Amino acid sequence: MANRKLLLLPGDGIGPEAMGEVRHIIAHMNEAEGAGFEIDEGLVGGAAYDAHGESISDADMEKALAADAVLFGAVGGPKWDDVPYEQRPEAGLLRLRKDLALFANLRPAICYPALADSSSLRKDVVEGLDILILRELTGGVYFGEPKEIIDLGNGQKRGIDTQVYDTYEIERIAAMAFELARTRDNRVCSMEKRNVMKSGVLWNEVVTATHKKGYEDVELTHMLADAGGMQLVRWPKQFDVIVTDNLFGDMLSDVAAMLTGSLGMLPSASLGAPDETTGKRKALYEPVHGSAPDIAGTGAANPIAMIASFAMCMRYSFEMIAEADRLEAAIAKVLDDGLRTGDIMSDGMTKVGTTEMGAAVLEAYKASA
Ligand code: NAI
Ligand code: MG
Repeated sequence: MANRKLLLLPGDGIGPEAMGEVRHIIAHMNEAEGAGFEIDEGLVGGAAYDAHGESISDADMEKALAADAVLFGAVGGPKWDDVPYEQRPEAGLLRLRKDLALFANLRPAICYPALADSSSLRKDVVEGLDILILRELTGGVYFGEPKEIIDLGNGQKRGIDTQVYDTYEIERIAAMAFELARTRDNRVCSMEKRNVMKSGVLWNEVVTATHKKGYEDVELTHMLADAGGMQLVRWPKQFDVIVTDNLFGDMLSDVAAMLTGSLGMLPSASLGAPDETTGKRKALYEPVHGSAPDIAGTGAANPIAMIASFAMCMRYSFEMIAEADRLEAAIAKVLDDGLRTGDIMSDGMTKVGTTEMGAAVLEAYKASA
């Protein structure tokens, strides 16, 4: 089996605790299934700052560039609140995204049957939900120039951000949306605001043109992003893949995520362009949650978001579809069995900690071999 090079960056707070459970799963897969994961380790965030005064070292960046995929825990915490801006823990994550050119952010919103009751929405609205928000991550209003605050000299200031999208940026995210849809329910809904934004007009045009270039087997619809937000809450199951820009994606993915439950459940993936020779994409997988300083060190963290991020890693970086399916089914199984960490605890369920939850998922995974 070809070696699969993984870089683990556990980070701070509950990051290392959750990552520990993934390590057990990887060790099992290597021993029992010959998965051939080759693990390298690095420091990021506050952990890296404490070790060498930077949020990620050049040496660890090299490792990230050389790896097939990066598994990232979480960074940050009150300990580093007074660290200068450039060395802040979050800067390590931003540098990774930038240097690996991760232009696409994938946020699945899956409603596990056992948790359908704990959504803020009605059970029938979310039960069985399985959608994917694909957010453009390196363009748009967060990066466009000019970006500044100007002093107008009359007691007024002007804050300026600029939404900029070029054809190639829209093309590559649209193509990825169609390719992802083919592995799912084969439907893409593109969201922009073409009624009021020029970049939205271009977005709509380029997505439509890309669709005609070999993706016509995928169903494509368009929706204005504000209406999309409304529909996401009204009847989310109408969607399969939603593709949208950086700003709308930031908001819509948070909304979609919360349809289904706790931060402790939510994985994500960030992907770059395929390498011209190997065809492999640079990739980073991480839970949506942060370092949860309030529960760090107590053994209470829910490791499912981190484990589900590893399942995404197998699916998107290593084409280990059967294993990814089995791991996701193992998560659903332990939830069906009533195991709950504190963040998803409800009446009549069995409360467990990080290690028990991780071990139970691994046992369920083994049992499905
Ligand atoms: P957070 O996601 O760390 O925590 C928010 C709340 O959710 C807390 O009450 C926490 O206990 C709970 N929670 C989060 N993940 C959980 C899990 N796996 N199991 C059980 N409960 C969980 O966000 P917060 O508190 O705003 O930020 C804490 C630190 O994390 C800050 O320094 C922030 O900058 C950083 N952060 C880092 C991110 C990253 O590494 N990608 C993302 C978000 C925040
Ligand atoms: Mg956000």
